[in-house]
Amino acid sequence: MRIAFRPALLALIAAAALGSARAQTRPLKVGLMLPATGTYAALGDMIERGFRLYVQEQGGQLGGREIQYFRVDDESDPSKATDNVNKLIKRDNVDVIVGTVHSGVALAMARAARDSNTMLIVPNAGAGAITGAMCAPHIFRSSFSNWQPGYATGVVAAGKGYKRAMTITWNYAAGQETVKGFTEAFEKGGGKVAKDLSVPFPNVEFQALLTEIAAQKPDVVFAFFAGGGAVKFVKDYDAAGLKKTVPLIGSGFLTDGTLEAQGASAQGLQTALHYADNLDTPRNNAFRKNFALTFKANADVYAVQGYDAAQLLGAGLTAVKGDFAKRDGMIGAMRKTTIDSPRGKFTLSTSHNPVLDMYLREAVGKNNEYKGVAVKALADPGTGCKM
Ligand code: BEZ
Repeated sequence: MRIAFRPALLALIAAAALGSARAQTRPLKVGLMLPATGTYAALGDMIERGFRLYVQEQGGQLGGREIQYFRVDDESDPSKATDNVNKLIKRDNVDVIVGTVHSGVALAMARAARDSNTMLIVPNAGAGAITGAMCAPHIFRSSFSNWQPGYATGVVAAGKGYKRAMTITWNYAAGQETVKGFTEAFEKGGGKVAKDLSVPFPNVEFQALLTEIAAQKPDVVFAFFAGGGAVKFVKDYDAAGLKKTVPLIGSGFLTDGTLEAQGASAQGLQTALHYADNLDTPRNNAFRKNFALTFKANADVYAVQGYDAAQLLGAGLTAVKGDFAKRDGMIGAMRKTTIDSPRGKFTLSTSHNPVLDMYLREAVGKNNEYKGVAVKALADPGTGCKM
């Protein structure tokens, strides 16, 4: 019995080893879940371009593994998010998910990633819980938490001596959390937020709220909008005559990737973010040059975050020589890595969120120009994260 069993067992072990070796040499399956339609479509496109650019710069491989892409358009629709992410997890059997832009969609992705133990890298959505209460060893973010740019803009607004602010945003996690960060820093700096205004995502009917701002005449208005909604808001603010009477300040998404469409309405607007187009470093200059050559377009913050998502995955895969089965080694390397980003070098907090230098920028021509550091090495508190 023992003699007959041994060869069969050995054959089984050999087959399993062969299967595992094959699994480590086949292309790594990366599922890109990003918006290709709707108000955030351009943001999704820039993230994908940034990700692909870094992989292309490494010869199409990360850690020696070819990369195979699978794509899903999430439409920035939280109600479709679980079905959409399961297309990548269950239908395509991807190894890693990269996505997305919208915080509500990303929260559903994080839940699915936790349930299925699939590695997730978030290249934009700032929902605090992703690197807070929902944190997990295999969930990483290459972008920011919503609190970070909100807080940095609050520091800037208080520093300018404004005392009475109103806020305006979309009524979902990104808007709410960004406003919370702004309010925390602004009130710590001696200001007071008199009123929070909002519209449902992705509505762009701002007229009634602009009328209210004109009536209230605060010292400053803080806004969080992005993509197509930011274009409409900045133009409407100007058309209502408010740009000349009530200063508008925002987290940098208000003017990032949108300046051409916003035209004169955005010129001179000051915002705070972890990237500025004209950061004059060899790393940023090389990145922007290669991006422009490859895509015949200028890079923006979303492209940087996609690029850095690929760098983060690359750091993990390089540490295990492409052997994705060595998950602990990969995760350990990703936790400890320093990303040499076009935005400047950064590390991750213990809850896997970037620790960021936040810049004050001003919209000049087609660029969000660097004006100085608003807050150095700003770390999200990672509230509720237990790892
Ligand atoms: C968000 O939903 O988290 C988000 C969307 C666009 C820009 C920034 C944050």
